[in-house]
Amino acid sequence: MERIEGLPKSYLSYPMVAAVVGVKEASKINFIPVVWHVQLSFDPPLYGVAISPKRFSHDMILKAGEFSVNFLPFEHAELIAKLGSTSGRDVDKVKEFDIKLRDPVKLDVPIIDGVYAAFECELIEHSAFGGDHTFFVGEVVATHFDPNVFDEKLTLEPQKVLPTLYLGKYKFLTVDPKSLRIIKG
Ligand SMILES: Cc1cc2nc3c(=O)[nH]c(=O)nc-3n(C[C@H](O)[C@H](O)[C@H](O)COP(=O)(O)O)c2cc1C
Repeated sequence: MERIEGLPKSYLSYPMVAAVVGVKEASKINFIPVVWHVQLSFDPPLYGVAISPKRFSHDMILKAGEFSVNFLPFEHAELIAKLGSTSGRDVDKVKEFDIKLRDPVKLDVPIIDGVYAAFECELIEHSAFGGDHTFFVGEVVATHFDPNVFDEKLTLEPQKVLPTLYLGKYKFLTVDPKSLRIIKG
């Protein structure tokens, strides 16, 4: 085991689920893949994403005051890699990658067609906590999900859809549905 002081720029805590945050501001749509995202509360339903101020999406979210969180199956890993290696500063990602959208329910946020789940979030707070990423907290005001790939308790069925996981440095993978165990302790 190596032991060092502090945390190097690394991916030691990965794999993470790759999500794609969507934002529409002044009629421009942009998408940014994120792995630093987390559910924070059931009631009210809160979802947080950490985005660097270097990203074009960062100020778009601040101005729009809302964003979407999209979860795409593993077959879309290539799209996620492309969205994460280009900036909305330079390209219109929707046109460039021929992204089809589905209608939002409550907010004016872009949802990618083909998601197995997506959230529409109203920005309620943001802070960088002195770090180099801003943590945006959104209240989830509408949810989209494919009922064919979740069971009655709304847990994902990996035999029906493969989630997209990320190891860092453009290494993507998914789960082995055969490894599924229900362990009640
Ligand atoms: C799978 C994946 C996950 C990423 N996760 C994050 C993240 O959590 N936060 C972040 O600020 N950038 C993250 N990035 C980097 C941005 O997605 C990338 O810089 C993107 O090109 C920014 O686009 P924009 O300039 O259009 O906003 C990630 C990239 C990839 C490929």
